[in-house]
Formats: sequence, structure tokens, C-alpha cells
Amino acid sequence: MSQYSISPTGEKFELPGQKDDSKEFEHLKEVVNIQRGFGREIVLVMGLGFVGVVMAAVIADATDEKGNPTKFVIGMQRPSTRSFWKIPLLNRGISPVSSEDPEVPLLIDRCVNEKKTLMATFTYDALKLADVVVVDVQCDYLKESLGNVRDGRADMDAFEESLEVIGQHIGPETLVLIETTVAPGTTEQIAYPIIRKMFRKRGIQTDPLLAHSFERVMPGRNYVSSIRDFWRVCSGINEKATSKVVKFLKEVINTEKYPLTVLDRPIESETTKIVENSFRAAILAFLDEWSIFAEQNGVDLIKVINAIKVRPTHSNIIFPGPGIGGYCLPKDGGLGLWAYRHIHGFEDDIFKMTPLAININDTRSLHVAQLTRDALRNMGRPIASAEILVLGASYREDVGDTRYSGSELIVRRLTEMGAELRVHDPYVLHWWEFEKQDEYPASSHSLKRFFRGQERLKDLRVEQSLEKALHGTDAVILAVRHKHYLNLNPDEVVESAGGPIAVIDCFGILEDVRIKRYFELGCEVKGLGRGHVKRIKDQVREAQA
Ligand SMILES: NC(=O)c1ccc[n+]([C@@H]2O[C@H](COP(=O)([O-])OP(=O)(O)OC[C@H]3O[C@@H](n4cnc5c(N)ncnc54)[C@H](O)[C@@H]3O)[C@@H](O)[C@H]2O)c1
Repeated sequence: MSQYSISPTGEKFELPGQKDDSKEFEHLKEVVNIQRGFGREIVLVMGLGFVGVVMAAVIADATDEKGNPTKFVIGMQRPSTRSFWKIPLLNRGISPVSSEDPEVPLLIDRCVNEKKTLMATFTYDALKLADVVVVDVQCDYLKESLGNVRDGRADMDAFEESLEVIGQHIGPETLVLIETTVAPGTTEQIAYPIIRKMFRKRGIQTDPLLAHSFERVMPGRNYVSSIRDFWRVCSGINEKATSKVVKFLKEVINTEKYPLTVLDRPIESETTKIVENSFRAAILAFLDEWSIFAEQNGVDLIKVINAIKVRPTHSNIIFPGPGIGGYCLPKDGGLGLWAYRHIHGFEDDIFKMTPLAININDTRSLHVAQLTRDALRNMGRPIASAEILVLGASYREDVGDTRYSGSELIVRRLTEMGAELRVHDPYVLHWWEFEKQDEYPASSHSLKRFFRGQERLKDLRVEQSLEKALHGTDAVILAVRHKHYLNLNPDEVVESAGGPIAVIDCFGILEDVRIKRYFELGCEVKGLGRGHVKRIKDQVREAQA
């Protein structure tokens, strides 16, 4: 029976069968022959996710001093029901990832349709044609309980499968550049033996040429430049791999303006990524307790942070919002803990700050449900059966990426408390964490399992009209700093809702004048770290008395 993969806009694509593989490979060989005739290096990017798609396009856009393209890029993606649609879309020149960066669609269209230096495929045979393989598949960290990162493990399945396939297909001189964020030690202690074993089976006696260089991509307004125009760290497994990876990155990334850091061993590049993200997780988690302090003592943490930020030494202090989501910060420290024991074999427990930070960040958003409950209670409305609108499903502003977003936990906890949830997000068409909660992000790994009464959330649909979403709501939760939510007019919000509502500000979105106006309109306002709202409320009520 045919199987299909459905794009976010609802287009249906039949999955290829095994017989399609050889036809696809014949076609690829013809295309690659022509490209080699132009003197171009063949680069295969494995995994067309948030990183792989744009990295593939950045490589395909690379030129020599005369402006001639130097690379031909094949984006390779597993033909799974979840992801196959990305291939036909990319081959039309359409970006499979949505973002606020206008350069993404232009870059992809230019490389596919004008320069003809980028195409996508589903066949692993394409690896046989590659001079360089860039690995951008995921390496997850699966947590077994909520708020305890120690109770979890690295999920290397997709990553290890990719390495085996690479070892079965590539030539001995092919550079394998791992960009995936991995547990420190992976390139040398996991990837190298897997590929080497495959090489030996195929009678190849040389060592595989492996390197690691992690991504610092930020899929927002500067998506493309966060890959192309940004500092990189890299390291090869031996001298030859190092010189190859340095040459490659210099050819595709703006290393003149953003110099490369070349480290001695891949474990140092891998550790850099994990420490960099654990540091970020820690400075965010640190403010959680001060956020509660602020709420309980009439302090506006947003103003406190802005006052501190003027000191150049403290300029990276940052308000944590409703938990820290995204693919990287919730998991990367976990990969470090896991590596210490399971790759390097240590039994002692040296990690204190990193797991604590992740645990705080993973549960911070639950407090939003309490604020919502209290705001509604102040208006004499019970949380059970209350209609609550969450504005923003993504983990950060102006992107359509919902992975581990604080909003998911807010929806789950409030549902458990009996509320009726709706959601609006201009960047998200489908919130798969709910629509496909039985199999997404992996079967039996939905956060659903930590809450009761979640079944009906399968029917949660992302509303695209803000006005419609507001109609008849009891509470609005400002969960993400999407530009669409920064200047909402309180009078219009209340009018669309049909009367006074509870407003919960999770991200310092509301200036004091707006908070005041909401109170004047009979609303309740609460916010993470925003203890001063009570003062504004008292002033308004006094003036109204
Ligand atoms: N998303 C970010 O903002 C970001 C930033 C920095 C680093 N990273 C790291 O980059 C890596 C990739 O992240 P992502 O966000 O692109 O993940 P993703 O889940 O969006 O993409 C991974 C892709 O790889 C595909 N894939 C899996 N196994 C495959 C196989 N055997 N062959 C071909 N394709 C396969 C998946 O189907 C998916 O499309 C991760 O290690 C992540 O931690 C991500």
C-alpha cells in the first residue's frame, strides 16, 4: 500500500519505494557528471532539518573570486512520512523551513532555480558521489521525567544509523564533517569506529577522514547570516582531516571576517558547544528565583535587568521568559552528563550547576498556569472551563519552531486544571506536539505523559486569525515575543474578547502604560517577574474609586 508524506500546507507526496532508488541514482549520476565538468566539488548534506536546509543552501551559494559557483550540493533526507515532503519542495526551490529571515526563500530559490547548484534526494546511494559529507541529523537527549535531566539518555539511533550508512557508501577520501551537537567524545569514540568498521568490511584500509564543527545557527531574522557570517570552531581527527575541514569551511563560510578557531581534537570542539549552551542555560535559570522574588515583592524584573545591562560586564543578562525551549538548550548539557559516564566511563557525579539549570528551565513555565489561575480567581472566574488563549507556540520570537517551547507545558498544565485552550501563532500552521502527540517527537516521548487529561489536545489547532482567537476568551497569555504581539492595543484586545479578561505577560511584553490601560478596562494583569503590576492596579482602582 502506498504511504504518503504531507507538507505543512497539506500537499500530499507518495513515499518512494525501493525500486525508485536506482532510477534516482542514475539521474543523480548524470547531474553530478555535468557538475564535475564545471569543476565543482560535490557536497552531500545529510538531514534536511532546521540546520541542514540552510547550511546546504549556504554551501551551494559559495563562489570563487570570479563569482563562479564552486560547489554542487545534494541535500539528503530520509524518506519518512514525517519528512519526505521536504525533498520535492526543496527541488522546486521552496524552503521547507519557515522563518522571519527574508534571505532564506531567496537563497534557496536562487541556488535551486538560477544557479542550479542545489538539489535534494532520498537515496543513500548519493553518498557515493560526495567529496564532502556534512552530517546535520539530530542527536536527541530523551528525558524520562519532568524536571530531572539526570533521568535520561542520549538517543543516538538516527545519528548512528547515518554513520553506518555513510561508512557503507562513501569513498576513502571523502571528508565527513559532523555538525550535529553530540556528546563530547562522539566523533572519536563512536563515529570513527563505526565508519572504520564499515571501511574494513569494504576492503578499504585507510582511516576515515572525520571532523567536527558545530553549528551556532539561530533560526530567526538572521537565520542565514548566523550560519554564513559567524565564528566557527572546528577540529579534525587527524592532520589530513583538519586541513580538509579548514579548507572547506574557508570556502563556504565568511571566515575572513569571522575567523575560524581550530582546536586540537574533535572532543574539544564538541565540548565547546556543550559548555557554550550550558552556560547560556545557567544564566537563564539563575533568574528564575529572582523572578519569583520580584513577583512577591513589587519589583519589575524587566526594569532591574535593563538597569544591570548597561554595565558592559553584565550585558548578557537575559530575562528567561516562560521556560527555555528550543532544540538545543534543554538537551545539550544532558549530552555532557551522559558522555561523562557512558562514553568516558566515570562513575562519580561531578555535575551540579548544569543539571540544576536545565531542571529549572524545564519547569519554569508551569508557574504561568498558577498566575493564570490567580488572575482569573481575582476576577471571580474559576480556571475549570475557562477559555484561555495562548499567544505564541514557538520557543522564541519570530520563528516557527515549537520544539520544547514553554507554551507546550503551559497548555498541558492548564488543560490538566480543566481549562479550554486555544492558540495563535503567525509562524506555526500545525503544532505537531499536540496534533500528533502519540508519535511526536517520538512514540511514547510526548510531554503528554507527565500530565493527566491530555487526550483532547489532539484536536488543538493553531488559529491564524488573532481576532477570531480572541473572541470570547477569558484569559490571554502573552507567551512569545513575536513582533505581532508587541504593540497590541488593550482597547482592541478587550473589544475582540467581548469584555474584560485576564492578561498574563510571560516575557516583559507589556509596558506600564498598557498594563494600566488593561486595569482601567476592568482586566486583571499578571506577569512572570512583574511584581509591580499590583502597584499599577492599586493606583488605577484608587483613581476609579
Ligand atoms: N535548530 C537549531 O537552532 C540548532 C542550532 C545549533 C545546533 N543545532 C544542532 O544541529 C543538529 C541538527 O538540528 P536540526 O534542528 O536541524 O534537527 P532536525 O530534527 O530539524 O533535522 C534533522 C533532520 O535529519 C533527518 N535525518 C535523520 N536521520 C537521517 C538519516 N539517516 N539520513 C538522512 N536524514 C536523516 C531528519 O529526518 C531531519 O529532517 C542537532 O544536533 C542540533 O542540536 C541545531
